[in-house]
Amino acid sequence: MNVLSALIAVLIVVAIAIVGFQIESLRGLIGVIVPYAAISAFLLGFIFRVFRWAGSAVPFRITTTCGQQKSLPWIKASWLESPYTRLGTIARMALEVLLFRSLFRNTRMELREGPRLVYGEEKLLWLAALAFHWSFLIIFLRHLRFFMEPVPAFVLTIHTLDGFFQIGTPELLLTNVFILGALGFLLLRRLQNPQVRFISLFTDYFALFLIIGLAVSGVWMRYFSKVDLLSIKEFAMGLVTFRPVTPPPVGILFYIHLLLLSALIAYFPFSKLMHMAGVFLSPTRNLANTNRMVRHVNPWNHPVKVHSYGEWEEEFHDKIKAAGLPLEKE
Ligand code: HEM
Repeated sequence: MNVLSALIAVLIVVAIAIVGFQIESLRGLIGVIVPYAAISAFLLGFIFRVFRWAGSAVPFRITTTCGQQKSLPWIKASWLESPYTRLGTIARMALEVLLFRSLFRNTRMELREGPRLVYGEEKLLWLAALAFHWSFLIIFLRHLRFFMEPVPAFVLTIHTLDGFFQIGTPELLLTNVFILGALGFLLLRRLQNPQVRFISLFTDYFALFLIIGLAVSGVWMRYFSKVDLLSIKEFAMGLVTFRPVTPPPVGILFYIHLLLLSALIAYFPFSKLMHMAGVFLSPTRNLANTNRMVRHVNPWNHPVKVHSYGEWEEEFHDKIKAAGLPLEKE
């Protein structure tokens, strides 16, 4: 049911783009007003959520660890698995963000005949996630050629490396193969695996379908329908320089591509896609585990009037002595 409603929601976005393309007076709305509104929603929503996270109390060091923490000098500590320095914390975070290290260790559970509970590796999920995220980033960077003049050298270099195999004209870009393969795998996994299907929500499918639509329409434009890139660049430059022009009539696919992207951008801050920012703000990852090296006192602790054993013993000193009980301070 969730999968169907998400698919319908994305098809509605596509249908709006098609109608917007057919009716000339609506082209400005699809190509200018909607993208600006989407970017505004993205920026405001993103800042709002980051500020809300940043303002939430973190009274304790709750670092997640899977190694020996730093304590006595003769016990070997693991600087990466239980980082106790800023450098160790940054290194662990970098490996997590760039290589999805914790996902690499992810395991799969299956109930086999018997019944027998079996645990196995889940490396394909890691590989697909890595392929998808890196391809998305590279495609995003390559798209800067539409928004910058002159095009920076690094964008051209990325493009050349991506088309390294020089197969066909226009040359096949590796990221296009990877992103479509990875997205296909991620969708099939959600649909095929009963446990994953059970926990999948509308929002999981919606984001996935939006990105699939974006990638498929882009690939279609590049290899099959061949759009006029010069007029698209003019339009894109107008958007970023705040001198917008109506999108050129380069074909329905470009309108679909643009509207799917606008929907994705506007939806981003309200969805789980915010894990992009959340990973950096997660106290289980961004804090060093110094719990045994340093005494951490919760800064919000209410001042409590304490009555120590020493004070108690002093108060009842005579009575304790008279009862013949041992005293710490004679
Ligand atoms: C992060 C957002 C975006 C994603 C993930 C995305 C995805 C893609 C993909 C996968 C392709 C296939 C070819 C390639 O990889 O270059 C493509 C092509 C294309 N995209 Fe995007 N796109 C995005 C944003 C945009 C924007 C904002 C524009 C509008 C200026 C745009 C316009 C185009 C055009 C014109 C093509 C055809 C390129 C060619 O023929 O070489 N895309 N897009």
